[in-house]
Amino acid sequence: MMETYRPIIWRDHKLFLLDQRLLPQEEKFIEITTLSETARAITDMIVRGAPCIGFTAIFGIALWVKDQDYLDQSLCRKACDEMIAARPTAVNLSFEVNRCFNIMKEHLSQNLSISDLYKKLIDFGELQIHESHEKNTTMAKIGFQELSKTIGSRKWRLMTHCNTGFLACGSLGTALGVISYAHKQGMVEHVIADETRPYMQGTRLTAFELAKENIPYSIAVEGAASFLLSNKKVDAIFVGADRIARNGDTANKVGTSTLAIVAKHYNIPFYVVAPVSSFDTSISDGSLIEIEMRPIAEITELKGVRLAPIHAQAINPSFDVTDHKLITGIICEKGFINPAHKEELYKVVNS
Ligand code: MRU
Repeated sequence: MMETYRPIIWRDHKLFLLDQRLLPQEEKFIEITTLSETARAITDMIVRGAPCIGFTAIFGIALWVKDQDYLDQSLCRKACDEMIAARPTAVNLSFEVNRCFNIMKEHLSQNLSISDLYKKLIDFGELQIHESHEKNTTMAKIGFQELSKTIGSRKWRLMTHCNTGFLACGSLGTALGVISYAHKQGMVEHVIADETRPYMQGTRLTAFELAKENIPYSIAVEGAASFLLSNKKVDAIFVGADRIARNGDTANKVGTSTLAIVAKHYNIPFYVVAPVSSFDTSISDGSLIEIEMRPIAEITELKGVRLAPIHAQAINPSFDVTDHKLITGIICEKGFINPAHKEELYKVVNS
């Protein structure tokens, strides 16, 4: 069932997005018909999670193409840049949009019709979602083998941060894909899902996905990490990524880096699972990754109810960068990367 339940649906020349802001209380799809609506849906986190943001953007570009009477390269670039500006940290967005731009450029050079280009972009978007299932399954199997090797044949207690399941990745999931696969093999004893403040992706979305698959889980506050890891309640931690630099430094949901530091202290293996579209080998290290600052109301309010005193200030970085030295392994569809081995990442990702 998880393979067919999709947060992004293309039907009758329209894009339908599962409104993730309403989960788990309500499962409602929103209809999107223009590029601006698509970009807004990404900014407002109707759709979220690095891979899903990228897939959604492809359909947004296609919707824009459909509405044009005339196209040239500079108009196409402008539309692509509007889409890329929707959220800055997850590289999947620019990765997919720039691939759309290349398709547009090639099409323009061949002087083909706008309707042909539109169709080509839709097919491209559908293909990326379809292929993500295979890629995520490959990553899940690599993660499973790694756990079998490092922990062995007793059931595993795993921990994750933020949301990396089908809601974020279109199908199966990345870090949560490993957990889901391991559960199907009968190897998961229990999962701890960080609540993931302030947007509560763990409480609202990861718990929703774990429950749908009947995986035993508990939600924990991020501040419990030291207690949980020091008391040997977790065998390994799996997280996703929004952008991975050439040296393995990884931007992911804020709180990931703190968790990795605690994991290192207590010697708990810490894995990053992400598709090749989440790697940015053009940057040498994580200090070059732009970190999105989100509205402070995400901290001072909860579902419209004010928690903090009136006029309270807050600071809301949505991501942080985990030093590659804290990461035991990075798993992508092309293989397992040990970030301690210099240049291994570049070789695997570009193989
Ligand atoms: O801000 P979000 O919810 O779009 O955050 C992205 C994430 O879900 C996580 O950072 C995740 O680990 C990477 S996407 C699988």
